[in-house]
Order: sequence, then C-alpha cells, then structure tokens
Amino acid sequence: MYLSLITFAILAYFAHQQYFVIPVGNQSRFREDGHVLLFAASMWVGDISLLAWTTACYIAVYSYQRFRIRWPYRPMNLVLIVSQAAAVALVFHALEDRLATEKSMGMFLLMFSAVLLTQLVTVLVSSLLFQISLRTGGWKRTLLKFTLMDSIYLTLYAIASSYIKMVQDDRWMQLVSETVIVASIVGLYYWRTVGIRQDRRVSEQVEKLQELNARMTVANQQVLLAFASSLEKRDPYTAGHSERVAQYAVEIAGELGLSDDDLKVIHLGGLLHDIGKIGIPDYVLNKPDRLTSEEYDIMKQHPVIGEELLRRVYTTSELLDESRRERMLEIVLFHHERPDGKGYPHGLTEEQIPLYAKITAVADAYDAMTSNRAYRNAMSSEQASRILLSGRGTQFWPPAVDAFLAALERRARTAESDDLREVSAALDQ
Ligand SMILES: [Fe+2]
Repeated sequence: MYLSLITFAILAYFAHQQYFVIPVGNQSRFREDGHVLLFAASMWVGDISLLAWTTACYIAVYSYQRFRIRWPYRPMNLVLIVSQAAAVALVFHALEDRLATEKSMGMFLLMFSAVLLTQLVTVLVSSLLFQISLRTGGWKRTLLKFTLMDSIYLTLYAIASSYIKMVQDDRWMQLVSETVIVASIVGLYYWRTVGIRQDRRVSEQVEKLQELNARMTVANQQVLLAFASSLEKRDPYTAGHSERVAQYAVEIAGELGLSDDDLKVIHLGGLLHDIGKIGIPDYVLNKPDRLTSEEYDIMKQHPVIGEELLRRVYTTSELLDESRRERMLEIVLFHHERPDGKGYPHGLTEEQIPLYAKITAVADAYDAMTSNRAYRNAMSSEQASRILLSGRGTQFWPPAVDAFLAALERRARTAESDDLREVSAALDQ
C-alpha cells in the first residue's frame, strides 16, 4: 500500500509538471497538463474513492497554482476534466464484473462502447461549456481534439488495467503489466504533444512568411507609387495626373455599380497606369511640342513596358491575389485601346477590351483634356465633356462616358448647393 501511495505521489508530481499552454481565442490561453496521468495513477493504485480524492487534490492544486503564479486559469476546464473522470470511473466500474464473463468479441464491444461513452460525455460537456461542436474550427478544434484524446486514453487505461487485475493473480506481474500500459499512455501523450507543437511551429512560420510577403508587396508598391509620382513631377504639366485618373476611374466604376473590391483594384491600376513611362526616353517624354510619328511609336510602348514591369514586381499575395493582379495589369496594358479598334498597343475592339481598362481610358482622357499642356491650355469641363460625347462609341466605351458625365453632373450640383449654403451662411451672420 505504501509503495502504491509513493508511486502515486511521484506520478502525480510529474503529471503536474507536464503541461503546455495553447492559445484560446485572442486573449486567454488553455493550459493542457498531465491530468490524464494523474487520474490514471489514482486508478492504478486504488478504486473510485481514491479517484474522488484525486479530484479534490486536483482542485486544490489548481487553485493554489492560480493564486501563486496567476496563470490563465479557466474554472470551466476543471468541470470538463472532472466530468471526463466521472465518465471513465462509471465505465470502469460498470465493466468490471462484465469483463469476467465476456469472451474476446464481447470484450471488444465493451471497450468500443466505453470509448464511445466517454467521447460523448466529452463532446456534450465541451459544447455546453465552451460552445464547441464537432464542426468547429481553429483553436476550438484543437481544444476538442485534446479533450477527446484524453478521454480515449483514460478509458483505454481503465479497461486494460481492470482486465489485467482480473487475469493476473500475481501482484508483481500486475505491476509490470500496468507499468507497460502507463508507459504506452505516456508515450502516446508525448507523441501527440510533440506533433501538435510541431504543427503549430510550422503554421507560425507559414504565417510569418505570408506576412513578410505581404509587407514586401506593400513596400514594392510604395516604391512604385513614388516612382509614378516623381515621373509626373519632372513635368509640371502632368503632376498629379495619376491620382486624378485613379479618382475619376473610381467614380465611373461606382456609378456603374461595381463592388468595393473592384474599386480598390481600379484605384491601384489608375495610380500605376502610366508607370511604363519610366522606360520612355526623356526627349520623347518631356518634349514640349507635339510628337513626331516615330516619337509617338516609342511613346506607344509605355503600356507594354508598364505591364511587364508590374508583372515582375507584383508576386501574388493575400494583398493582391491572382485575379486582382491580372485585372490591375489589364488597366496598365489596355488603357489606350479604343472600342473602334484604333487604339494601341494591340488595336483591340470594344468586346475585347477589359472592363477596367475601358473605364480608365475615359478617366485618363478627361484629365488629359482638363489639364494644362505645354502646347495648349486646359479645356473647361464642359468642353472636355463634349469631346467625350463626340468620341462615345468610337474612342470611348459608351457606358463609361455616360457614367462619368452623370458623376460630373452630380458633382457640379453638390458644388452648387455647397456654394449656396456658404452664401446663405454668410448672409445669416
Ligand atoms: Fe497612358
């Protein structure tokens, strides 16, 4: 008896040393510890009364630890553990007499139903306490996996142990057999722990890499945007062009009823649509007069250069997945195409030109017309609108022109009512 109690004390101590913490949600953590071993040890040396005693000790140790080192302690865990232990004890005692009479097949069925019963109790209690179901995901699934495995170990131990006591009369042989069982359970326990730790480490690494990739894409993007803007600043006539094109294109897309996700891609595409001008020689890019036809041929290369450059820079990431990236690149490559097929670089026709590019083309043309150029002054909004209308169907995609004119009209009306409000506010003072 003394030997048993000493063994129990040693096992209980080690059981309590074996623990690791798994995150539960964002804030709290779940402490997974050696309670399986503790209960197994209590059943090894005694009966149901010792199991009750173990449970009481367990509550005391938990409460003490919580008070002493303040680890995130969840009283609900304790309820789960105790109910698991109770289920195992129940099975253990219900089967003890039956085992003596059952042959191998009956024994197998009994073991199977015992495991099933403890699993059921675990799932029921877990779902009551933590709102965990079998269809659950993330950390909740990990928690459920842990508790289910615990109950399997406990049940297997209880049954094997009672079977050994029944078939083996020699006390020392009993001890040896039980030691083998406990060692196997400890082995399983460690194997599971190591496996789960490794899984977590791998998924943490993957997350870190994904984050790094996303950050690099953001950094690349910032460099590109800075490039695009400095490119424009070299020529005072085009400063701010890309920002305005992006803004107008978003207004058209919004008017056409496109989604927020579409608008984001269109905005980015608008900001970068002329990035290919990096590859155009200065004497062509900054020429104050109209371009000759040879120079114009060189200029026509900028959509192709831009698309090639961005395709290399933008690796697909969570930030910009494959489909978004392709749609963004379409803006860069096709923003000078025309519905009548007279555009460049490929001379596509209306149906062949991607939607975003058709939208950006209108925004681009409007901003070019309403900005000063070295060789002419800026047109008024009305003049530019008239030109958009005259090119409707030939140079520009009709729905984009209509949407833009509607957006401009609304903008003018809001500006007017703002002016009126200012006037009446001034009169009130
Ligand atoms: Fe362009």
